[in-house]
Amino acid sequence: MELLTPRLRLDALTSGDAAALFAYRGDPEVARYQGWQPASLEEAAEWIEALAAEPMPGHWWQRAVRLRESGTLIGDLGLCLPGLDRSGDANGDVELGITIAPACQGRGYASEAVRAALDWAFARGVNRAVASVDPRNTASVALLCSLGMRQEAHFRESYWLRGEWADDLVFALLARELRAGADRAGRTR
Ligand SMILES: CC(C)(COP(=O)(O)OP(=O)(O)OC[C@H]1O[C@@H](n2cnc3c(N)ncnc32)[C@H](O)[C@@H]1OP(=O)(O)O)[C@@H](O)C(=O)NCCC(=O)NCCS
Repeated sequence: MELLTPRLRLDALTSGDAAALFAYRGDPEVARYQGWQPASLEEAAEWIEALAAEPMPGHWWQRAVRLRESGTLIGDLGLCLPGLDRSGDANGDVELGITIAPACQGRGYASEAVRAALDWAFARGVNRAVASVDPRNTASVALLCSLGMRQEAHFRESYWLRGEWADDLVFALLARELRAGADRAGRTR
């Protein structure tokens, strides 16, 4: 799957991306509220090597976030697709996570990439998207709020993160809420 937005291209991560990915994913500030931080370039390369080529129900699917013009890797976006129910139909939420390299933050790239991923998932019949963030991760909370996502839960000290129990906020958005927001924006233009 390749998604194009006005400024970005979302496509597969390749072995040639390992150094750029390690540079931002290995940054302690970037990794501060994330479960995975590569300890070495080799670990980043192995992580890319192990990524699924195609989306699979119930599994994370990682996409590169690149500048459309140059192809430069500026981040990555993960989608955990709904699992299958007993009749073999996809049933459940899609979960999203995104990382943007510090040098490229604050320019609207995460919003643009997540919107494209939401459109892609909702066009495939997914009804609900969720994202889980540490409340101290103010940039992520701001991103999710700016996308119109609603905070639905605050789980206190619900997981172990880098030597301490951490809280977890769950944000959600329904497909019809995104469509209604787009309709409203269209009417006010
Ligand atoms: C969270 C993250 C992906 C945001 O990326 P970004 O490209 O800088 O975000 P955008 O420029 O698209 O900004 C989106 C919105 O969040 C706001 N925002 C972004 N960073 C912010 C910050 N540090 N403080 C306050 N608001 C912030 C922007 O103002 C914007 O709001 P607006 O649309 O109302 O203007 C980035 O900070 C990051 O990679 N953090 C580390 C990885 C991480 O923790 N990921 C978990 C994500 S679920």
